Amino acid sequence: MPETTKKKILFATSECAPFVKTGGLADVAAALPKYLDPERFDVRVMLPKYLCIPEKWSSRMNYLMNFRVDLGWRNQYVGLFSLELDGITYYFIDNEFYFCGFHPYGEIYQDVEKFAYFSKAVLVSCEMLGFIPDVIHCHDWESALVPAFLDQMRADHSDLADVRTVFTIHNIKFQGRWGIPQVQDITGLPGHYFEGEMLEAYGDANYMKGAIVLADRVTTVSDTYAHEIQEPFFGEGLDAVIRQYAGKLSGIVNGIDTGDFDPGSDPMIPYHYSADTFRRIKPQCKAALQERMGLEKDPKKMIFGIVSRLTDQKGFDLIGSVMESFADDNVQIAVLGSGDSLYENMFRYFAGQLPGRVAFSNGYDENLARLIYAGSDAFLMPSVFEPCGLSQLISMRYGTVPIVRETGGLKDTVEPYNEYENTGLGFSFAGIDAGELLEQIEYAKNVYFNHKRRWNMIAERGMRKDVSWNVSARAYERLYEELD
Ligand code: ADP
Ligand code: GLC
Repeated sequence: MPETTKKKILFATSECAPFVKTGGLADVAAALPKYLDPERFDVRVMLPKYLCIPEKWSSRMNYLMNFRVDLGWRNQYVGLFSLELDGITYYFIDNEFYFCGFHPYGEIYQDVEKFAYFSKAVLVSCEMLGFIPDVIHCHDWESALVPAFLDQMRADHSDLADVRTVFTIHNIKFQGRWGIPQVQDITGLPGHYFEGEMLEAYGDANYMKGAIVLADRVTTVSDTYAHEIQEPFFGEGLDAVIRQYAGKLSGIVNGIDTGDFDPGSDPMIPYHYSADTFRRIKPQCKAALQERMGLEKDPKKMIFGIVSRLTDQKGFDLIGSVMESFADDNVQIAVLGSGDSLYENMFRYFAGQLPGRVAFSNGYDENLARLIYAGSDAFLMPSVFEPCGLSQLISMRYGTVPIVRETGGLKDTVEPYNEYENTGLGFSFAGIDAGELLEQIEYAKNVYFNHKRRWNMIAERGMRKDVSWNVSARAYERLYEELD
């Protein structure tokens, strides 16, 4: 297809691997563009040029131009940089006042202004670049003001008149809420945007609600979560709005970049294996993990891995209450994560109580994460809610059997083991209930220790399952095509 007839898609995102990542959004923004058909779509990605992006990447960026944008009464600098990587063009928005921290996110009162600036800068950058997308695909609350600014700008920016928007909810818990007078002051959006229908929720300005109302399409990252967020328990106060706009909502389950997450070639793991060789070679990764984390070096122990943001979302309260019950002499637990001090202290405590058996690495470490995926036998992810979850997909790809709660994408991706038919990919339970979790852990231990061939068959099925974006990228393509 000639360049001019390709559909132009711009991702507006607050994080994207390998430049900056705090969670799964970065993986999605990195992988999905690569899986969209390059014959039919010209996909580019725009994100902030945070000072915390490693030098390795910032030194490769090309300076393009600078200009200024109006943000309410403020008039702010925008520097535009670009970088080509694996066939994708990335644009970086530079403003050291907003993007100078050690971490992409900070205090909410600063972040509401920082990401209002980002959303406005995205739109003006399209005009300055002469790259007017057919669709701007916005992700989570940080780019949720794009549809509102677009709505406002359309009137006197005729080049933006036909731009359509898709808004993807990766986590409805974070909505970008702040006082209406402050947000009006920051954005300069006229008063009617804050009166009832659009940006107002419970007396506050709410960025995510604005996008749910104003975007042409709303998606979320699994079918089950698309239904769950229509209920009060999962909807975080926005369930009624989601129900109201359910007609433009769809759930499209995430995949992973199986070229990047590939135990056959991953440069971050010490031994490479496939679905044919994992029985022989994966134990070598296990030994390397035991050594790296100071666990007793014993191939017979069953290792449970955890790689996670440490937040209540992920079900650590359940894990905490059963830890001493299941961490017997045959079991080891390898934990990598950072976040709430409550859970950091909890894992520190268990590591102190059960040395050689429980190991906790407090931090964010891509290399160690890959070693845990490769070296563990099982992966624990009993989330209270989980819009999609990528860790369980990565685990399966590395032959590590997930133990999950049946919520959101965990329910849609981890078919439970059925011992009668010898099918399934992992172990799962329904209630937010520590007893149910313990039951599944004990069941998994029983299969692992007493029915090893069966265990390996579960792991092999996981490794052979297509967890890539192959299927879901087609669903996004259809969505973009429909938006004319
Ligand atoms: P969420 O986006 O809610 O954090 P996901 O399962 O969708 O959960 O994605 C998490 C991603 O972040 C995975 O790629 C996981 O390996 C990675 N990750 C989470 N915590 C860490 C950590 N401490 N170190 C390295 N990678 C991490
Ligand atoms: C969010 C969700 C996670 C999802 C990720 C990418 O961080 O918590 O479940 O996989 O976004 O969509």
